[in-house]
Amino acid sequence: MALNPQHSVTFANRSAYDFETPLDRSLEGSAKWNLMYEENADVKPGVVPFSVADMEFRTAPEIVRAIQETAAISTLGYTVATDDYLDSVLGWQFRRHSWTPSIAWLVTTPGVVPAICTAVQAFTQIGDGVIIQPPVYYPFFRAVAENGRRVIENPLIYEGNRWRMNFEELAELVKEPGTRMLILCSPHNPVGRVWTKDELSTLVSLCVANDVLIVSDEIHDDLIMPGHEHTTLMKAMKPGQFEYCMVATAPSKTFNIAGLQCSNIFIENARMRDTFKNQLRKTGISELNALAWRACQVAYDECEGWLEDLISIIWHNFEIVRDHLANTQPWVRVSDLEGTYLAWLDLRACGADEKALERTMHAHDLYFDEGAMFGAQGQGFERWNLACPTPIIEQALGRLDAALDELRG
Ligand SMILES: Cc1ncc(COP(=O)(O)O)c(C=O)c1O
Repeated sequence: MALNPQHSVTFANRSAYDFETPLDRSLEGSAKWNLMYEENADVKPGVVPFSVADMEFRTAPEIVRAIQETAAISTLGYTVATDDYLDSVLGWQFRRHSWTPSIAWLVTTPGVVPAICTAVQAFTQIGDGVIIQPPVYYPFFRAVAENGRRVIENPLIYEGNRWRMNFEELAELVKEPGTRMLILCSPHNPVGRVWTKDELSTLVSLCVANDVLIVSDEIHDDLIMPGHEHTTLMKAMKPGQFEYCMVATAPSKTFNIAGLQCSNIFIENARMRDTFKNQLRKTGISELNALAWRACQVAYDECEGWLEDLISIIWHNFEIVRDHLANTQPWVRVSDLEGTYLAWLDLRACGADEKALERTMHAHDLYFDEGAMFGAQGQGFERWNLACPTPIIEQALGRLDAALDELRG
C-alpha cells in the first residue's frame, strides 16, 4: 500500500497542540532511547524506538507552564496533597469515568508499580498465590515473585483478533488454597482490551466468593479508543464488595508525565487503607513529589482537550498500521486496539524464534518490545508503542515490511 504522509500530517495539524514535531530524546536520559542505544550504539539519526510506554510528544504547554511557575514560586520542599489537588483528582474521575469515589479513599504513591508491590506485601503472606493474566505487563510477575509470593497464571484466550479472560480456569484457580489476590490490568497492556462491565462483574463474583482481593491497575484508563468505555472496577461491584478491591490510577500514561512519579490509589475500606499506608510507611514512602502534584492537577483541570486530540492521533496511527499490514502482510494478526497506545502484533506465523525476531527487527532499525517479555504467551509477538508523530509510524512501516519479508523467507 502506498503511504500517504500528507494524510497524517493534515490530521495532526488540526490539533491546536504540537503532535508533529519529532523529538530527539537521545540526551535526556530517556529509558526507552537508552535501551535502544544499549542494543545499538550506532543507531541511525532519526530512528525512534517503539518500546517503553511513554510518548514521543511534547508535554502539554499547560503542564509545562505549571511546572515552571511552581519551580519559580515554591520552595520545592516536602509536599502533601492539598484539598485542591484532591478535588482535581476526584473531578477527573467523575468527568471521565462517571465515578464518584470519596476523598477519604485516596492514597498517593510515587507510581502504580510501587502501589502494586506494596499491596502484595500488605495484603498477602509469603507463599500465597497471586493470579495474573498473561500476556501481561511484565512487572506484575516481579511484584509477585520478588516478594516471595507464587505467580498463578490465568492466561488470556486469543479469538479472532480479540482476547478474552478464561473464566472457566479462573473459577478453579480462585478456589486453590492460598490464592489471595488477583492483579488485574484494566485496560490490558499489551493486548489492548478494555474489559466490559459484564466481564468485570464475572471476575468480581468469582474473586469475592473465594475471598480473593483484586488489585486493579487502571493506569491506562483514560486511553480509550472510539466506541469503547472503561469501567472502573468498583463500578462493577456492589458497595458491600469494595473491601475486595484497590484501584490504581495515575495521570502518568494519560499525559506522558510518568517521570514525575505521581499516582492516585483508591481503597474504600478503612482497615485495608490503613494496612496499605502502614506498608508504605515501612518503605519510607510518604509525601508527594513537589512538581508532580501540580502537574497532575493542571493536567486534570486544563488538559482534557490535549487528551482528546491525543486519542484521535493514537487511533489514526493504529488504523494506519492495521490497514497497512492487512494489505502487505496479511499473515500478521493485529489485536484490536480498544485501549492503551500499544499495538500487539502476532508474528507467530513466520515461525521465527524470539532471538531471530529481535535480531531482524533491530537490523531494520525497529525497536519494539519483544512479546516474550509479557510471559510465555507473548512469544512470537511484538508490542508497538504508537504514541509518536504519524510520519514516524509511516516511515517505520516500510522498514517493517522489509523485516517481515525477510522473516517469512
Ligand atoms: C499496566 C501498567 N501498569 C503500570 C505501569 C507503570 O506504572 P508506574 O510508572 O506508575 O509505576 C505501566 C507502564 O507502562 C503499565 O503499562
